[in-house]
Amino acid sequence: MVTTAIIQATGAFFRHGGGSFGAAGQLGAALASGGQRYFSSIPATSELKAVLAQKIPKEQARLKTIKQQLGSKSLGDVTVDMCIGGMRGIPGMLWETSLLDAEEGIRFRGYSIPELQAALPAAVEGGEPLPEGLLWLLLTGEVPNKAQVKSVTEDLRRRSAVPPHIKALLEALPVDTHPMTQLVTLVSAMQTESEFAKAYASGIHKSKYWEPYYEDTMNLLARLPTVAAMIYRRTYAGGNYIAPDPKLDWAGNLAHMMGFDDTSALELMRLYQTIHSDHEGGNVSAHTTHLVGSALTDPYLSFAAGMCGLAGPLHGLANQEVLRWILDVKADVGDSPSKEQLTKYVQGTLKSGRVVPGYGHAVLRKTDPRYTCQREFALKHLPHDPLFQLVSQLYEVVPPVLLATGKVKNPWPNVDAHSGVLLQYYGMREENFYTVLFGVSRAIGVLAQGVWSRALGLPIERPKSLTMEVIEKKFGFSPAK
Ligand SMILES: CC(C)(COP(=O)(O)OP(=O)(O)OC[C@H]1O[C@@H](n2cnc3c(N)ncnc32)[C@H](O)[C@@H]1OP(=O)(O)O)[C@@H](O)C(=O)NCCC(=O)NCCS
Repeated sequence: MVTTAIIQATGAFFRHGGGSFGAAGQLGAALASGGQRYFSSIPATSELKAVLAQKIPKEQARLKTIKQQLGSKSLGDVTVDMCIGGMRGIPGMLWETSLLDAEEGIRFRGYSIPELQAALPAAVEGGEPLPEGLLWLLLTGEVPNKAQVKSVTEDLRRRSAVPPHIKALLEALPVDTHPMTQLVTLVSAMQTESEFAKAYASGIHKSKYWEPYYEDTMNLLARLPTVAAMIYRRTYAGGNYIAPDPKLDWAGNLAHMMGFDDTSALELMRLYQTIHSDHEGGNVSAHTTHLVGSALTDPYLSFAAGMCGLAGPLHGLANQEVLRWILDVKADVGDSPSKEQLTKYVQGTLKSGRVVPGYGHAVLRKTDPRYTCQREFALKHLPHDPLFQLVSQLYEVVPPVLLATGKVKNPWPNVDAHSGVLLQYYGMREENFYTVLFGVSRAIGVLAQGVWSRALGLPIERPKSLTMEVIEKKFGFSPAK
């Protein structure tokens, strides 16, 4: 007989069919309370949802006025370069949660990263912001107080039960499946839980779409740390899973369930989860989630689609590529290379027809402030780490080499240039996993915007595509035969 149990002793729930899920004591306690049915434990109301509900009518009215009074105004021309060059610079979507300035970097609801670090409540006095606070800010546009952040942490904890089939599905995959493929598989499979899909199927009025979308958002966010940690422990720790600690916050628990309890590692995870969350709407993972969601696909499948995009090496997978590349640099030139040795190595990477991972950006034209805040974290917590020193040296060497190509528009480091070195320092050495951590964070931004997209009734996305022939004919251009 398959035993059914919920590991409840720790305050969050993993239901499983017998076997080794959690420490033996916790498993024993769970079995004592066993036989219960899995339930998703959705609270009837939450303060966050109530604040959001108050804001929505005003924003709906605002959008209606914009449509009526400004709908026919032009936001600029579209050049042929923009059309064939990945739609760079075309203002083609509404994205409320964050805005990217090419020179200054990201602002979340108007707040820069240093401002967030000062304004959002922290787990440790003067420490890194709690991502739950950022979620509140992205959803409501307001900086929450400590009690409000605590209410989100508790709400997420109550919702954190992972459906039973997820563990079985995870363990059915080959253990060497890339962690991003595992994430996409498990997130898609959790779609069985979608409140939005159920509500749509039973004919919910469109004015109410945002409510089940919000529930899915909170449930999915609540479960992602467990799912990510399960992937990590199964792939790299023989399936020896760790139960959550009910005293910990959302990001702290992610580090804990992965097996890292150092207080600075928890702080790093809080910072990491905050800064990777949102980068306005046009990047591949955000845009994909938005595009798929615009067909009224539920948040689970939309987010899984976004994660397929994040798994690309020019986007989120770059953090994995960066660490590999840095370790290759180290293997080639040693721990304390000269500037000349590093310059030669970077030139070699370019000559071999590859990109220098962690450098460049489609929009940014300065050093990414997400890089800068990670550098500051390193200066505070690991100033003497040899890999950090190498990253610092590369910061001086790479930009002039990229500039010398004459084609790279932004030679400066992006978020991915730094994250792997920090994770590595705390023992998270498996770089294949890094993009999963990025993905957990990205969920905060894209799902918060998803709630607003449904609340504002944004339509299905459908840009116009052209053929080369149409472009040539439009400008009276005859191609050489
Ligand atoms: C992020 C990225 C995809 C942006 O691409 P983009 O908007 O097309 O960038 P640009 O307009 O500056 O590209 C112009 C040229 O410079 C090249 N280039 C840009 N960044 C480069 C880099 N880091 N290393 C080598 N070449 C680079 C491009 O590949 C392109 O070459 P091509 O004309 O031969 O195709 C690009 O900078 C890149 O590949 N970076 C490395 C991967 C990375 O770190 N990704 C994470 C981004 S957060």
